[in-house]
Amino acid sequence: MLIVANWKAYVEELAKARKLLTTSKRVASATRIRVVLAPSAPLLGALALRNRSVIAFAAQDISATTGGALTGEATAQTYAAAGATYAIVGHSERRALGDTDAIVAVKLSHALTHGLTPILCVGETERDGEGRYLAIVREQLTAALEPLSPRERANVIIAYEPLWAIGKAAEHSIGPNDLTEMVLYIRKVLAELLPGKSSHGSLVLYGGAVERTNVRDLAASSGVDGFLVGHASVDPRDFALLVRQLR
Ligand code: PGA
Repeated sequence: MLIVANWKAYVEELAKARKLLTTSKRVASATRIRVVLAPSAPLLGALALRNRSVIAFAAQDISATTGGALTGEATAQTYAAAGATYAIVGHSERRALGDTDAIVAVKLSHALTHGLTPILCVGETERDGEGRYLAIVREQLTAALEPLSPRERANVIIAYEPLWAIGKAAEHSIGPNDLTEMVLYIRKVLAELLPGKSSHGSLVLYGGAVERTNVRDLAASSGVDGFLVGHASVDPRDFALLVRQLR
């Protein structure tokens, strides 16, 4: 199991970030579950260089550029230099601020070039009765992965994050059956986009209203490989309890 803690802009103090890191190290060692922390860029810089033994770090987003006269941009190369080994790409909160499928594809390519494993977020805005949400996820996966080489595609982690669940309480999250359907569907699309058996190793995560009360049920039989956790990852005690549910 892989747990990615997306701190978003919830964590703004170094002391809090350090506390979360200490708790994460402890719970990751005790459970042997792989924990990846995604702090804001400055906090990632403050934590990641000296603390990569048990915990790995992810950028919450990376620049679509490769550097130069671009005030305020944090490139994939910069994140890699600061100690990140993963990068969240195409999160719906970034798509809402202008990341198109084409920009997402460029970011994936930059991440891979600089040795960051991309965590590609896809997901529909709402559930309709006609299965349109499946087509939306297929379109997002295809637009993001098609420009990559087959080898690169195999290195992308997929995070299914339906927008209607993000930020909600656990009771408004997806149910285990619907998650099972979507994980199967994503694996089918990946099998089409990746040659031979190379999609067999692809990781599929779920994110959106994952809390300690629902994480175990969501993991039980859905075939999911892990979770992208937002609000429930920024309270040390809650987060430790959440990870322990997956032991
Ligand atoms: P949430 O966010 O856990 O607060 O729903 C998940 C995400 O946006 O990655």
